[in-house]
Amino acid sequence: MIERVVTKAEVRAAAAAARAAGKSVGLVPTMGALHEGHLSLVRAAAKRCDVVIASIFVNPTQFGPGEDFERYPRRIEADAELLGNAGIDIVWTPSTDEMYGPDAQVTVDPGPQADRWEGAIRPGHFAGVATIVTKLLSVVCPDAAFFGEKDFQQLAIVRSLVRDLDLGVDVIGCPIMRDPDGLALSSRNAYLSAEERHAGLGLAHALWAAASELLLGECDARALESAMRAAAQEHAGDALVLDYAAVVDPDTLEPLERVDREARAIIAGRVGTTRLLDNVALTPPPSS
Ligand code: PAJ
Repeated sequence: MIERVVTKAEVRAAAAAARAAGKSVGLVPTMGALHEGHLSLVRAAAKRCDVVIASIFVNPTQFGPGEDFERYPRRIEADAELLGNAGIDIVWTPSTDEMYGPDAQVTVDPGPQADRWEGAIRPGHFAGVATIVTKLLSVVCPDAAFFGEKDFQQLAIVRSLVRDLDLGVDVIGCPIMRDPDGLALSSRNAYLSAEERHAGLGLAHALWAAASELLLGECDARALESAMRAAAQEHAGDALVLDYAAVVDPDTLEPLERVDREARAIIAGRVGTTRLLDNVALTPPPSS
């Protein structure tokens, strides 16, 4: 049976009881509106940890003014059922007042890694993420925390956060789950009409273009980025407005000149009012 807890005291006590019984604890932080992507994290956590806790909290501090905080899908009951079926032991659903006291003033600065890509388009977003992730980890004290590669920059920042603040948690990155046609699963896909969904697939087409150009021997990052933009345009036309399409170092997310080692193609754009992001590993062919 899945246990539902709301307060920090409750989840702290539940995690402490598990640890006292010699059990390892895994944490899967989410904002709810759960899909197979989230559930894949839960399954990875259940494989590795004895007790798995999922948090569902739509964190206001990571949304900028005019973003979708108000309309972000909230369906806690359905989420709790999905989590129960996927092997979650405890679901923690704190309120905003529970997470942020009236006098809250300290935030976590995620450093320069947070200034580019998503951070350049959503100023303050990663400070909000870094702050809430620090709080979630401090309350639960899990042995391992699970994050999706879907939000690749977020994962990199969480890794730096845990390293630099000595949080002592294993950060486990999990692969991107996609619909059969290739669209990366996202809670925000719920906003898309059928036409918009089709346009959104332009991101996956762009990434496939980069991967196949690389396979054909194109190692120049600028050329791969042009191939990404061309493929997105060909698939979606003006219905998909790209924010960036880049080939980066997978650890630092700094732009690369050439793909002569493992790299990552990252892409983000807007379809109507919905922002979508995606990425793929780029592994140079052995001969390059
Ligand atoms: P949310 O968007 O709900 O995502 C929760 C976790 O699920 C993140 O680690 C995200 O990368 C992962 N995820 C989302 N879509 C995925 C997919 N298609 N495949 C694999 N994993 C996927 O990310 C957040 O919430 C928040 O920023 C949070 C970390 C909870 C802090 O508020």
